[in-house]
Amino acid sequence: MNKPNGANSDSRALLVVGGKPLTGEVRISGAKNSALPLICASMLADSPVILTNVPLLQDVHLICEVLTALGARCDFNNHELTIDPTSISRQDAPYELVRKMRASFLVTGPLLAKFGRAEVPLPGGCNIGPRPVDEHLRAFAELGAEIEFKKGVVYARGDTLKGAEVYFNISSVGATENLLMASAMAEGVTTLEHCAEEPEVADLVDFLVSLGVDIRWEGPRRIVVHGKRDLRQSEPYNIIPDRIEAGTYALAAVGTGGGVQVKNCRPQHMTALIEKLREMGVEVETGDDRLTIAPTEKVEATKVRTQPYPGFPTDLQPQMTTVLTRAGGLSVVTETIFEQRFSYVPELVRMGAGLLQQENAVVVDGNKSRLTGAPVEAYDLRGFAALTIAALMAQGESLIAGYNHLVRGYEDFIEKLTGLGAEVKLTDRSYKLKNNNHK
Ligand code: UD1
Repeated sequence: MNKPNGANSDSRALLVVGGKPLTGEVRISGAKNSALPLICASMLADSPVILTNVPLLQDVHLICEVLTALGARCDFNNHELTIDPTSISRQDAPYELVRKMRASFLVTGPLLAKFGRAEVPLPGGCNIGPRPVDEHLRAFAELGAEIEFKKGVVYARGDTLKGAEVYFNISSVGATENLLMASAMAEGVTTLEHCAEEPEVADLVDFLVSLGVDIRWEGPRRIVVHGKRDLRQSEPYNIIPDRIEAGTYALAAVGTGGGVQVKNCRPQHMTALIEKLREMGVEVETGDDRLTIAPTEKVEATKVRTQPYPGFPTDLQPQMTTVLTRAGGLSVVTETIFEQRFSYVPELVRMGAGLLQQENAVVVDGNKSRLTGAPVEAYDLRGFAALTIAALMAQGESLIAGYNHLVRGYEDFIEKLTGLGAEVKLTDRSYKLKNNNHK
């Protein structure tokens, strides 16, 4: 994990020659944030599970390493992943793996439900502020688990979890997912109230249903789970497309004024972004599995506020702020989910963006922004995506360090951008930019 102002030992960097509108088509991969919980949920099954449309990403490989360390078998055949959970023999997830990714905490629910115990170190992850797991732990306890916390490790025990009424204080994606997996095998009925309803949560519900669990959505933010043992898959499960990846390419098109067709996505999962783009004067056409961004000469300033789904996603906030530097006038972007998600702001300012951050909001002055290439550093995954969009919008060369963050979440990033006509390549962070006086 690399802290803003801390040293990042990854010498790789992305070289971008900007100033050209993106054009053409891009095909979206399977959703990272679906793949991770679905891989964890596969541990609940009593026979091998096949997942298709699995994105080949570092985070996905990492969660497979965690499962492998527990005794499961994970075999990739391109984007098809077979998980054999029948050989799981341990319930203690290794710190060395878990510390690298917050989503590894999602092994807790299935381990506890299936084996009656889980020992999982508190997770690390992206540099986007403190991200506690108190909601997960309180809810496990409501199902009857005993929770202890010693030397940075959560010990959860409960031979028989019992269905309960769980109310989440925060509509947390991870807590909802962990509890869905725990209650899938609990005795009786569990009601999850005020839960997250992100498309990735819905994908996990569909996957658990495909394993034989009776789960129903009963009104907004309310899911009812009838626990069951002996879960088995009857046919491979196809992971939904990544709405954040799709949104990133759509925003890269808008930022550069280009016309791009985003293929193999689900526009119905992207309504908040699409509506916001239309409000900004961008022409967006949608089909069942694609959306098309028309070239735009002028973009209107706007207000954006991140919210749990179906609101505007926090994972697209940095990319949207970047695009708003080309809007005429003042925009305001407010972050309500992860308040420390502005590590990219000083880097964008170095590139010439007129930004002023005040607490959890950034004021973007499009009239005072003129992006030029510069060496910059990303401190988290979506920050890297935002700086890439800025570099594509800017005149001249940019060098983006912090490549280790990018590989966590964007499959074939360089190839996909190159396919849209971008000049991008992987290089070393010692590369000296041409025609550039930035230090
Ligand atoms: C997931 C996504 C992440 C996305 C986020 C919000 C994955 C692997 N990651 O992260 O990309 O940005 O949803 O859409 O799916 N919180 C608590 N206590 C808890 C749990 C959460 O206070 O026990 C707080 C967090 O600090 C944060 C907010 O709730 O401020 C939302 O977090 P959560 O929805 O849990 O995000 P993740 O599941 O970690």
